Amino acid sequence: MTAKPTVLRDLPADLQQERLPKHVAVIMDGNGRWAKQRGLPRIMGHRRGVDTLKELLRCCRDWGIGALTAYAFSTENWGRPLEEVDFLMTLFERVLRQELREMMEEQVRIRFVGDLSRLPASLRAEIERSMAETSQNQGIQFSVATNYGGRQEIVQACRAIATQVEQGKLHSEDIDEALFSQHLYTQGTVDPDLLIRTSGEMRISNFLLWQMAYAEIYITDTLWPDFDRAEFHRALVDYQQRDRRFGRLSS
Ligand code: FPP
Repeated sequence: MTAKPTVLRDLPADLQQERLPKHVAVIMDGNGRWAKQRGLPRIMGHRRGVDTLKELLRCCRDWGIGALTAYAFSTENWGRPLEEVDFLMTLFERVLRQELREMMEEQVRIRFVGDLSRLPASLRAEIERSMAETSQNQGIQFSVATNYGGRQEIVQACRAIATQVEQGKLHSEDIDEALFSQHLYTQGTVDPDLLIRTSGEMRISNFLLWQMAYAEIYITDTLWPDFDRAEFHRALVDYQQRDRRFGRLSS
């Protein structure tokens, strides 16, 4: 499902509305470094990172971008110090509780992608509540990748498909890209056109491996808490200058 067109606000004159990405994915990197540069504990960077994400979501809504997916916690992030992991889980829960009203007002449809079974029960409850309450909203689709790993997502899709074949509900020759996509956490959302990664790392870190097949990648040295509207604008200008060929020749 793609978002209903909203009233566009403040679209910069050098951006062409019809050539905006339909789906933007972000790897929000650099929170820890941002905090360290200021002599603050790492968790302060994550706290500031939430404000950046909220502003990006508003900006996507204002400029008519239908879907935003943010990488909040990877399957590898459990390896961080327990204190930081606990802080992040509590932060996700608190933000969800605090922001539900605004998400309803702004018609945001939130969805969590990843293996949610390992998350604390109280966070899972808040996730389920926010997804259920916003499910009929008609605005931007906001996906939060939490305990998410691209390989793990592909493996769980394979298992689900194999089970259907075993049960005789599906023939192996019916398996194609469209069917496979329907078994991913992101089913129903167009693949990202643009991946933005902050803080300069040149990796995709197990994020949306299948979905990113033709995404344009934009990497900035800016640390996530400093990624603002002006930076997003720059990323979109750069995106609009790309020649997206999807393996074909230029027109
Ligand atoms: C990466 O920076 C950031 C994270 C692992 C956490 C990102 C989470 C948020 C911004 C909160 C989002 C909240 C909701 C509810 C969606 P890093 O810690 O790897 O930074 P570093 O590379 O500088 O150490």
